[in-house]
Amino acid sequence: MHSSEVLIIGSGLAALTTALHLAEHKRVTILTKRELLDGASAWAQGGIAAALDTHDTEESHIRDTLVAGAGLCDENVTRFVVGQAREMVNWLVNQGVAFTRDEASTAYHLTREGGHSERRVVHAADATGRAVQTSLADRIRNHPNITLLENYLAIDLITGRHTGEDERRVYGVYALNNATGKVETFSAGYVVLATGGAGKVYLYTTNPDTATGDGIAMAWRAGCRVGNMEFIQFHPTCLYQPQAKSFLITEALRGEGGLLKLPDGERFMPEYDSRAELAPRDIVARAIDYEMKKRGLDCVYLDISHKPAKFIIEHFPNIFRQLSEWGIDMTHEPIPVVPAAHYTCGGVVSDMWGCTDLCNLYAVGEVAFTGLHGANRLASNSLLECLVFGRAAARHILENSPSVSESIPEWDESRVTDADEEIVISHNWAELRRFMWDYVGIVRTNKRLARAAHRIRLLQDEIDEFYQNFRVTHDLIELRNLVMTADLIVRSAMLRRESRGLHFSRDYPEMLPVVGNTIINPRPGLVCPGVCEVLMPEM
Ligand code: FAD
Ligand code: SIN
Repeated sequence: MHSSEVLIIGSGLAALTTALHLAEHKRVTILTKRELLDGASAWAQGGIAAALDTHDTEESHIRDTLVAGAGLCDENVTRFVVGQAREMVNWLVNQGVAFTRDEASTAYHLTREGGHSERRVVHAADATGRAVQTSLADRIRNHPNITLLENYLAIDLITGRHTGEDERRVYGVYALNNATGKVETFSAGYVVLATGGAGKVYLYTTNPDTATGDGIAMAWRAGCRVGNMEFIQFHPTCLYQPQAKSFLITEALRGEGGLLKLPDGERFMPEYDSRAELAPRDIVARAIDYEMKKRGLDCVYLDISHKPAKFIIEHFPNIFRQLSEWGIDMTHEPIPVVPAAHYTCGGVVSDMWGCTDLCNLYAVGEVAFTGLHGANRLASNSLLECLVFGRAAARHILENSPSVSESIPEWDESRVTDADEEIVISHNWAELRRFMWDYVGIVRTNKRLARAAHRIRLLQDEIDEFYQNFRVTHDLIELRNLVMTADLIVRSAMLRRESRGLHFSRDYPEMLPVVGNTIINPRPGLVCPGVCEVLMPEM
């Protein structure tokens, strides 16, 4: 049995921020299912939203976040997050992150993205996530108090239900060692879920393979509430190139003048919104979806070739290089793009310290539902959320003493054998992602949701049977979590009888005057005493 004071699951920005804020005082273990840099954070392109320009204000950033969130952002949380943006950017600079500077001044170059009324996004060219993650990763690897375990896949949280103690407490996790195929037991004073989102539940996604909703599914099975799972953000501009797996074309490209066009070169966004290409993502993605369906198109085009080639290559070196490999010269021709699943706005219900419904369990980053994003996340607010809540969770952990369990049972595989038919798993992966794309995508209807719910039930039965009888594998664990997450998305979508932000239903096209968040609870009454009592921590 492994044992640590704090066990962090995941190695994205939320995890690394939490770890580095804890490590002076606590021994921390980071457990991650692939390698340190595998995760959405290292793929982030556009940057981090922070009102740094002298003309900009926090109030304006708050207002833009609330407008994008279509009436569902928690204003206190928004103020809490936005108010720490400058400080968190400075923290990253102190960790060695080299953000792009303006040629004409010494200030940071700020780019613009949809929904922002100002240039407000600090970035490292067009590969911000890589710059941030590689700087933090160096510190993590060299820190004496941090143990990094790569290629360990967390399967389930260990609660009092396993140990015979208080079932509202978390005592550790079971995790699959990918190298040996064995399940190992991790006991911990605190567990921090920093497992990212669930984009892989959809056939087309900008997300890396790691985004399989594991943390959301694990927390739900352990008894945590989840919120607003119907709000899945589709990024308007993912490269359309059948051989490319998933490659985002950053919104900053539109911020720097890129225009969306039909195959005949005509623009269409001005017809949909006065902000045109810089309207919030839900509006742009829906407009593209509508145009593609109406005209029977495979894709639309994003064109920045009217700008000087030097400007394009300087601002978007990574995208320029990648596209060149696919034979597309963005300095001379438009880029074929389609919308793709990008961000999970909902997640595990957590408060301003990252505390969840279970004692000793925290959720930070994309896995969490904090109330910041409402019905639609404002661009570049996600990395900011990882930073703010990573630090808040670390501070909360440092102020409290954990309770550990002496009686954690080992993983029991006495009644299972090796699987005889892996095809069931690969088939179900493909089937799930296809029908989620077709039935639970950008535009939804009651009938499509009901079809998806029916298929999810069938898949759940098959996977449960597989799980009970066979030794667990990486693919089986991820599939089980994907199906669970899909179920939560569909259930939440069925509960929302209106259209708002990222959830658009043809059966309920209007926005209702008063509505709340969609919170669903696996086990009513199972809440850690004290959770959500602290609404506004002093930072
Ligand atoms: P991640 O970075 O996804 O990390 C999750 C980690 O958990 C990974 O290490 C994963 O391997 C691990 N993990 C998952 N399940 C398990 C398990 N069961 N056991 C062990 N480990 C597990 N946001 C912005 O604000 N600005 C941007 O410019 C921006 N650009 C983006 C571009 C792309 C292409 C994508 C996909 C997203 C972008 N986003 C952006 C969103 C943002 O990158 C993510 O929301 C954010 O990085 C999430 O960070 P995280 O730490 O919560 O999760
Ligand atoms: C992008 O660069 O377009 C992604 C930004 C984000 O998801 O916030």
